[in-house]
Amino acid sequence: MIDLRSDTATQPTAGMRAAIAAAVVGDEQKREDPTVNELEARAATLLGQEEAIFLPTATMANQIALRLHTELGDELLGEENSHVFISELGGPAIHSGVITRGLPGAAGRFSVEQVRAAYRAPLIHSPRTRVVWVENTHNASGGRIWPLEEIDELRNLCDELGLRFHLDGARLLNAAIGSGEDAATIGRRFDTVTLCLSKGLGCPLGALLAGSAEVMTNARRLKHLFGGAMRQAGIVAAAGVYALDRHIERLADDHARAKQLALGLAEAGLAVDPDRVETNFVQLDVAPLSKEEAIRVLVEHGVALSATIHPSVLRAVTHLDVGDADIEGALEAIPRALGARVRA
Ligand SMILES: Cc1ncc(COP(=O)(O)O)c(C=O)c1O
Repeated sequence: MIDLRSDTATQPTAGMRAAIAAAVVGDEQKREDPTVNELEARAATLLGQEEAIFLPTATMANQIALRLHTELGDELLGEENSHVFISELGGPAIHSGVITRGLPGAAGRFSVEQVRAAYRAPLIHSPRTRVVWVENTHNASGGRIWPLEEIDELRNLCDELGLRFHLDGARLLNAAIGSGEDAATIGRRFDTVTLCLSKGLGCPLGALLAGSAEVMTNARRLKHLFGGAMRQAGIVAAAGVYALDRHIERLADDHARAKQLALGLAEAGLAVDPDRVETNFVQLDVAPLSKEEAIRVLVEHGVALSATIHPSVLRAVTHLDVGDADIEGALEAIPRALGARVRA
């Protein structure tokens, strides 16, 4: 099976497993795990922030960030299909007592005008607009990248209105490699930044939350509260250090393969827009087939894609475990499976 469902599917490489086996570890809760400490220091620099904390998942990083920035009844603004709104189980309401306002997006992005219009001026009866949330790359829109100029405009508006600015950069390194910007250049524009290790970077698990030293002191307390404080976590942090050394630049290969796949599928007459492929996601419209039917037929032909939130759109995601032969195989199997059954 050519598995293109998600970049979370990667298996640790032999080198990564060796790094895990050799990890020097200690009690992470006491800040005595040298491998965790090293990963946190490396990640802070990478993300353009003073400090970073190691966490099991990006969901936890996002939820801790939101809790850091808000009080009960505050309001979060973000693109309506952001992961935090559609795939974190109402976490903002549960963990932080925050209400959410989804802004309609284009390619996962919203504008300063939309934020200005949604912002509630302080009134005795209004919830307090508190956080602006950017997801880069944006998952539901197909791995799209936020231009730095638009991030700057939002940063300025947040400063003007006294709002906190969070980056869900689960795939920030895809955005950095895809845009040619330094990850730190993007990351330093935000108050807090989430980075996931278990997607394109190929680690079995792990995420980082970065911010100022002051904010991260509070974040470490919340890490305990949320149950994310670990012990000999260097066992997994070692995979993170390994990935930061070896798996960042190679994301360009994933992006090139995604582009190749999109171009080939478009050439075969399928409904794919290669111009929308900016990183490692390809979106394929399978109308009039249902997503479920298309997935079933594709699996019969040896290719696994996954459903998106859009009514008739599937996605293919490239990653560390997808090589040139997989792309060639997918380019042969997908048109054969779907062929005349879908609209061009
Ligand atoms: C944009 C984005 N943020 C956060 C997450 C959550 O990551 P995790 O599975 O590590 O909690 C995901 C997972 O797909 C994601 O795509």
